Amino acid sequence: MHSPITSASEHHAAAATSAAVASKARFWNRIAHKYANDPIADLAGYERTVQRVQALLSTEHEVLEIGCGTGTTALRLAPTTRRLVATDIAEQMIAIAGAKLANQPMPQLHFRLADADAPVAEQGAYDAVLAFNLLHLVTDLPQALSSASNTLKPGGLLISKTPCLNEMNPLIPKLALPLLRAIGKAPPVLCFDAAQLQAAMTEQGLQILAVERHGSKDKDWRLFIVARKPDAPPLAA
Ligand SMILES: C[S@@+](CC[C@H](N)C(=O)[O-])C[C@H]1O[C@@H](n2cnc3c(N)ncnc32)[C@H](O)[C@@H]1O
Repeated sequence: MHSPITSASEHHAAAATSAAVASKARFWNRIAHKYANDPIADLAGYERTVQRVQALLSTEHEVLEIGCGTGTTALRLAPTTRRLVATDIAEQMIAIAGAKLANQPMPQLHFRLADADAPVAEQGAYDAVLAFNLLHLVTDLPQALSSASNTLKPGGLLISKTPCLNEMNPLIPKLALPLLRAIGKAPPVLCFDAAQLQAAMTEQGLQILAVERHGSKDKDWRLFIVARKPDAPPLAA
């Protein structure tokens, strides 16, 4: 059997990609244990989201979660799926998720390392893609949404909850976050509002089915969106 031949430019491109992935993962690897131990900020809002997503899923569904963190939500949702593949860019997050799964085994749940910005190999494989507290963290929102859409079956759902940072007090995205980032206490973020996030989804051909806010406090800038990949056009006779 022949081994695959890679050109020098392909080799450089692969090295640049893995350096970019390592750089994106660094912040999250560093804070993974703290993230695992921090309490959920708005438990009532979180429970509302979990119940809403459980109602959208079924034990017939193949589901992908992107940016799963330490797997808390994946462990809650896996019993309402046939198979849940939960992915994250940070090895430390996946290691903690894997340890939780070892304590609470679920045959349908699998944790894997993956970059949500990268094009996907598994095209049309999933009934639902879940992205919770992730879409403001990717490097390239259109690329990440295109990858999520490509991995869905026709009619599949992209279910997301995303902080819309441009809806916060402007001092936070314009001053506090850049300062925190400069001292390594915040990751790079994308700033958008609800309309811009929905527009980015519709530009990828996704149909918005529901836009909700589940927070139990007055102002909730985290938007819950259910978007659907259109059915495939009928084959010509
Ligand atoms: C704010 S945490 C959210 C974790 C979990 N979804 C939740 O709601 O608790 C963001 C997660 O996204 C991951 N992440 C950041 N950029 C990513 C990317 N490009 N691809 C995949 N995961 C990414 C981080 O490692 C981190 O675990």
